[in-house]
Amino acid sequence: MRNILKNLITLTGASKKDFEVLREFSPILEEWEKDVVKIFYDTLFEYEPTAKVFQKNERPAREVTLQNWWKQLLSGEYDLAFWEHQWLVGLVHVKREVRNHYMLGMISRLQTYVLDRCFSDFEPVTARMVYGAFKRVTDVIGGLIAEGYFTKYLEAVESAGIKRTVLDRMVALEVDKMLREARKTT
Ligand code: HEM
Repeated sequence: MRNILKNLITLTGASKKDFEVLREFSPILEEWEKDVVKIFYDTLFEYEPTAKVFQKNERPAREVTLQNWWKQLLSGEYDLAFWEHQWLVGLVHVKREVRNHYMLGMISRLQTYVLDRCFSDFEPVTARMVYGAFKRVTDVIGGLIAEGYFTKYLEAVESAGIKRTVLDRMVALEVDKMLREARKTT
């Protein structure tokens, strides 16, 4: 996890300054929590493939989950425990078959909402700064959740007796085959 975190932080350019910005503006961003949670679950519940991930009457409990996540994101310590929790979300999602493209779609939805709110509530320079911080930090989180999910999947396959090296070879062969087929038709 630590190596993946390091890669994500380096590649996105996320920095201590981003965390300071989020913390500094957290009193305002916290006011957006209610709208964020509503948009998030309205989107998921209004779309049949994602709505069916949830159990009957689960929405209130999930809303609390996201409220806590939002609070933690704005005023978190951004220490190892913070990042490990994001990683854990990927593992929790495996159990409920929350595919990564659903999760990434929702990260994008949150980012777009925050972009609009930043430019309606702040001066342009501040809006750019707050949105930049939010974007980089949530991109790192999206990467961690996706990798947590993927890693858990691989571990499950390995625990069924398939070695990682064998699996990698199988994937490479499959991809070669697929690419040959695709290039034949183009
Ligand atoms: C921005 C993307 C997302 C974030 C940040 C996020 C965050 C979280 C968090 C923090 C938890 C609680 C983890 C814990 O127990 O500590 C959770 C659980 C859950 N999430 Fe997500 N989530 C995202 C996307 C989604 C999507 C797209 C779905 C459904 C299509 C979903 C469905 C669920 C469900 C069903 C659980 C409960 C799992 C369980 O405890 O059984 N999430 N999520």
